Amino acid sequence: MKTIAILGFGNVGQNLAKLFNDAGYRVIVCSKSGDAGKGEYLSMNYLEGINAADAVALAVPYQVLTELLAPLAKHLAGKTVIDCTNPLNDDWSPLLLGQETSAAEQIGKLLPDAKVIKAFNTIFADVMPKKHHDREGKKITAFVAGDDLSAKNNILALAKNIGFAPLDVGPLSAARYLEAMAHLNIQIAVGQQGGTQAAFIYHQGN
Ligand SMILES: NC(=O)c1ccc[n+]([C@@H]2O[C@H](COP(=O)([O-])OP(=O)(O)OC[C@H]3O[C@@H](n4cnc5c(N)ncnc54)[C@H](OP(=O)(O)O)[C@@H]3O)[C@@H](O)[C@H]2O)c1
Repeated sequence: MKTIAILGFGNVGQNLAKLFNDAGYRVIVCSKSGDAGKGEYLSMNYLEGINAADAVALAVPYQVLTELLAPLAKHLAGKTVIDCTNPLNDDWSPLLLGQETSAAEQIGKLLPDAKVIKAFNTIFADVMPKKHHDREGKKITAFVAGDDLSAKNNILALAKNIGFAPLDVGPLSAARYLEAMAHLNIQIAVGQQGGTQAAFIYHQGN
């Protein structure tokens, strides 16, 4: 996996673009105009970027994905799609999908021929820059869920290469738990005024 198209160039898109680029991946920033990120990265419209990439990272609001991806679905066939989204309302409260699905699984239904992998949704954009990765000697955990083992291994390697501690949490359906973790993260950060410098470290004892 060499070339990664990033859909969305907001808080998450900008940080992932820098991390991927610094780790040696070829980054294409995709936006409606095709101009986002120009000067710093390759920038294209969605269709051009998807066609030129091996993997596509979703860094846009979950609620816009159906409209955005439905016309692009056939171009995403066979590609790895990294779902970084969280199902949120505009006020960051959880968009409840029930207990039997997740944003990632819904995206999988929308893109049946793509290899959807959930990753990076539990990491606040504010702590994505490298200087925030070291937490008293431990790295921030990047939880990764997906059904396609080869695609998931690529994203576990990507997570490691950009400086996180990757952890395979199993099938795509485990995204239900990862999305709930993100809701908890937001609740502590915003609801409890804990702030967005917080990060999950999963310590596996022996
Ligand atoms: N912020 C975090 O800490 C964090 C952490 C993990 C995961 N996430 C998830 O990552 C995703 C991106 O979050 P973010 O904080 O980066 O959001 P953001 O800063 O608001 O950026 C969203 C991006 O999506 C684009 N966008 C908005 N509406 C769109 C539409 N209708 N069609 C196409 N593109 C549209 C925006 O482009 P324009 O500016 O041109 O509209 C912008 O580039 C969300 O799903 C969020 O839940 C966020």
